[in-house]
Amino acid sequence: MKIAVLVSGGGTNLQAIIDAIENKTITNTEICLVYSNNPNAYALERAKKAGIKSVCKSPKEFENREDFNKALLQILKDAAPDLVVLAGCLVVIPDIVVREFEGRIINIHPSLIPSFCGTGYYGLKVHEKALERGVRVSGATVHFVDEGTDTGPIILQKPVMIRQDDTPEVLQKRIMEQAEWKILPMAIDLIANNKVQIRGNKVFIEGYEEETVF
Ligand code: GRF
Repeated sequence: MKIAVLVSGGGTNLQAIIDAIENKTITNTEICLVYSNNPNAYALERAKKAGIKSVCKSPKEFENREDFNKALLQILKDAAPDLVVLAGCLVVIPDIVVREFEGRIINIHPSLIPSFCGTGYYGLKVHEKALERGVRVSGATVHFVDEGTDTGPIILQKPVMIRQDDTPEVLQKRIMEQAEWKILPMAIDLIANNKVQIRGNKVFIEGYEEETVF
């Protein structure tokens, strides 16, 4: 299975995918493209070190958003991935891309959806809101992308306990280490091995046992 990974920042989730392919936690998969909207994304360095083709195109390079959206669609069509993985991608994925790759785009979100998600909930803001609300458990979610924001069918989730002295930064790091970097590679491997089926707004995973995630 060929995957295109879309990034905007440090690329630790991209690195988790690269490492998982290397150590065969992810099978039957190759990364055919890394795309970033942000030329300063360290994720692009990670792609280069791993010898993976990368493309950087920022919406700022275009007269208007529609032209950018068309360019992004063409970049992905040229790469022809079987699966598009949003790994810390801060660009709103246009409907023309969602439709072209319907059922073949997944996203990692740093909370247990439907909590702390939707427009405006990204990066540290997610963890600030979780701590502000005083929840005892947060975590991460991998879900299919539909035309909404963080609204597509959920594939995997992994909880992370919140500690009373947590700061947003400490919580973010623990959720990445304990949850994101585990369930995103796991979801990719399940899809690469045809274990995942979308049934309406839910996902069926062949052989899923909740302890496999924990
Ligand atoms: C991660 O926390 C991810 O959940 C969110 O954006 C962050 C990306 O981090 N979508 P990185 O670029 O993978 O290090």
